[in-house]
Amino acid sequence: MRHTIQVRVNGILESRQVEGNQTLLAFLRDTLDLTGAKEGCNEGECGACVVLLDGAAVNSCLILAAEVDGHAVTTIEGIGDGQNLHPLQQAFLDHHAVQCGFCTPGVILTALSLLERNKNPSEQEIREALSGNLCRCTGYRQIIDAILEVGS
Ligand code: FES
Ligand code: FES
Repeated sequence: MRHTIQVRVNGILESRQVEGNQTLLAFLRDTLDLTGAKEGCNEGECGACVVLLDGAAVNSCLILAAEVDGHAVTTIEGIGDGQNLHPLQQAFLDHHAVQCGFCTPGVILTALSLLERNKNPSEQEIREALSGNLCRCTGYRQIIDAILEVGS
């Protein structure tokens, strides 16, 4: 069954038809061509698909597109200003916190959600916030250093 949804994605109001079983991740990637959110496990275990839903970090593979009707979604494509990287993206570059980059959009959006709630998180708080984001390249030290810098 198809539904018409209205959702604000990266500040742009989108009105689209979605299938009842289409995930938010598939909607972003396949319908809107926003491929920053990645499909890893597709079952809520890896965090590669994290986006912000009304400011909160969520696994977009576990949410139906129909459920975000009337809400606001932010993807990694929406956090810079079009000319400049977001300070957290720049910190990831400066700290060499990106290796293959597959986990990076989800990690950055999870970190942004944390920094929104807690402007100066401790290393332990960062580790706890990132517990649902797996980095198969295991560059966690650099990731944490980048987030600590922006949070300080
Ligand atoms: Fe969504 Fe892994 S793809 S948590
Ligand atoms: Fe490769 Fe994290 S940088 S998965």
